[in-house]
Amino acid sequence: MKLSLELDKINQKYKNILNECELYVLSYPGNLPAFNLSPWGLEIKKENIISCIDSKHATFFDLLQTLDSLSFGQVGMPMDKWVFFDCGEMVGGIVGLGKMAADLPEEVLKIYKIDRNYKGLVPFSMYIAIPMASGDSWFGHNLCSANSFIGNYYPLSGLALLTKALGLKVLNIGKMFGATQWESSAIHIHSQLADMEVHSSYTPAHSFEKTMAYRSVYTDLGLLSALSGKERVAVAYDFLVDALDNDFYKKMQMEIENGAQYKIVGRPIIKDGKKFLAIKRGE
Ligand SMILES: CC(C)(COP(=O)(O)OP(=O)(O)OC[C@H]1O[C@@H](n2cnc3c(N)ncnc32)[C@H](O)[C@@H]1OP(=O)(O)O)[C@@H](O)C(=O)NCCC(=O)NCCS
Repeated sequence: MKLSLELDKINQKYKNILNECELYVLSYPGNLPAFNLSPWGLEIKKENIISCIDSKHATFFDLLQTLDSLSFGQVGMPMDKWVFFDCGEMVGGIVGLGKMAADLPEEVLKIYKIDRNYKGLVPFSMYIAIPMASGDSWFGHNLCSANSFIGNYYPLSGLALLTKALGLKVLNIGKMFGATQWESSAIHIHSQLADMEVHSSYTPAHSFEKTMAYRSVYTDLGLLSALSGKERVAVAYDFLVDALDNDFYKKMQMEIENGAQYKIVGRPIIKDGKKFLAIKRGE
């Protein structure tokens, strides 16, 4: 595949994914003019620009739900289809990577419970984001990848990181809020792309109170550098928090409510088998 000058510089593992998979975007057609449908010069095939109000994609909609429940299932946040539609596709967009059913081995078709008559795209990853009412920010609502359950057939290391970077680029997102759990492995991905300002560290409004609400600012340079293969190592931080410590996040929340500012400034640090997050106090 011929890549643009920008994408030619990304790490080989992401190039391999681009060679193996096809990019898709799913949304309400009226939203498309707001999107970038050739991210860094990458072509999205016409048939992979999918309308959420087109019934001929019914199987693809089901497969997205399968991807969500197989990847998120054990974490406990699988989504109903109406959540995809009402809180994702109509109001924002879904961007991901996948492969055509005809090219997949029998084992993978079985995992997704795909009928042999289906010839369309099978999603391997998705990033869902929706615009916030303030007009200048988005909310990253879902990120998942099939690596954990099809990795034996397709070693697509880096799939989720590449998916989020492409999702941000396609949906034209500069500022994004997100909600994630302190112990989530996805923090490796979010913090590789940008610093994460912690807006709440303890969030009883969420189903999981040990959720942080964070905000990140993304630039083209930052996204491409995240894909360079070089880790965004945390250097200038004030302290480390143990991601599994059950006390700090409530204390941090009290401080945030009293005006303190904190941000995660780089990838998690693993020390003696424990995961720590590098935190810098705001000015
Ligand atoms: C978390 C999830 C998205 C990761 O998907 P993935 O495709 O395996 O992740 P990637 O291969 O893109 O990983 C990107 C980086 O994060 C690191 N990473 C991913 N999962 C990790 C884990 N469990 N432990 C440590 N590091 C991890 C990878 O090593 C990789 O590091 P590198 O950039 O140095 O190579 C996937 O497991 C998933 O869908 N989980 C369930 C849903 C979920 O929790 N989503 C997050 C919502 S906030």
